[in-house]
Amino acid sequence: MIDAINTLFRDSFGASPTLITRAPGRVNLIGEHTDYNDGFVLPCAISKQTMVAVRPRDDGMVNIIAGDLNSASTSFDLGVPILTDAAAPWSNYVRGMASLLQAEGLEFPGVDMAIHGDMPQGAGLSSSAALENASGLAFAALAGQPDFDRTRLAQVGQRTEHEFAGCKCGIMDQLVSARAEAGSALLIDCRSLEVTPVAIPDDIAILIVHSGISRGLVDGEYNARRAQCEAAAAHYGVAALRDLATLPAQGSLNAVAWRRARHVVTENARTLGAAEALQANDLASLGQLMAASHSSMRDDFEITTPAIDWLVAILANAIGDAGGARMTGGGFGGAVVALVAKGRLDAAIDAVRQHYRTPDGHPAEIMVEQPKAGASLIL
Ligand code: GLA
Repeated sequence: MIDAINTLFRDSFGASPTLITRAPGRVNLIGEHTDYNDGFVLPCAISKQTMVAVRPRDDGMVNIIAGDLNSASTSFDLGVPILTDAAAPWSNYVRGMASLLQAEGLEFPGVDMAIHGDMPQGAGLSSSAALENASGLAFAALAGQPDFDRTRLAQVGQRTEHEFAGCKCGIMDQLVSARAEAGSALLIDCRSLEVTPVAIPDDIAILIVHSGISRGLVDGEYNARRAQCEAAAAHYGVAALRDLATLPAQGSLNAVAWRRARHVVTENARTLGAAEALQANDLASLGQLMAASHSSMRDDFEITTPAIDWLVAILANAIGDAGGARMTGGGFGGAVVALVAKGRLDAAIDAVRQHYRTPDGHPAEIMVEQPKAGASLIL
């Protein structure tokens, strides 16, 4: 991939890059829609990643070429207020990082920039967080801060989503892509932003299956869920649903908001339980927690689809008590994650090949993943 981005850069700009960064995508093992409720999540960074290569310019322009989007290109000027670009929405993540890092006081020059990666689009594996962290780290390094605090980098990424992409997301995707450690998942307390690595035992495989149902255009549903959770927290007089150790009676709260709250309260407990089960290499308990998480996303949070439910059922059936499966990410499509004893991995993959087709009739994309480290400089 380094050769590919070097070639793309030289072919596009006629010189070599002076700096290359990378940031990984992520898969969330458990703890869904808990992050913006100040709760707990347990994601891990994966090998699929985005790379950004840059070379400084002296005219303040940022000229970008996106190798993964048929070499789409766009430009913007660091010297004037940076706006979103409806004609190149993929570039809004870079525009946001540049704009908000400038606002944080970082001074960096214009650049020629090439973007290249191997993240599947629409799989819900956080290609946007990877692009935010990789481009943001490049700007920070050019500002003389290659060690720019990774939590702050993630927070700037989250603000980019809010202010430049219209998604009121939590901190999970950006934080795990910025701070993950190789070999471990990251238990994140989304209130304190404290992270605790939880090693993934060698005999457990991380299996990701892309349903073939593309995420996207679902920010409205996402933001609506967030608003319902905030309404439920306000109703119960707490700062966030994280503050409810158990679910209060419904009282005068409407039934939908109450079910949303039930998902969040129970999911927080499951996430803490799963971190312990992972540490103890207790695959049977992990599997039960993942199954309960999926049911809760289906029935209480209402973010799964029938095809995703079917895919999870195929995996759960093939895995038995040697692990578990659930939808991962924001919902309404995207990928399913399974944690499975390596001895049962082939059976799980065979079951998916045999029984699942994407909506347009193709076999699903299957990835066997490794927990990787967060954003870094590679040149
Ligand atoms: C998306 C958001 C995250 C998180 C998940 C759901 O990935 O970007 O902040 O809320 O959905 O868990």
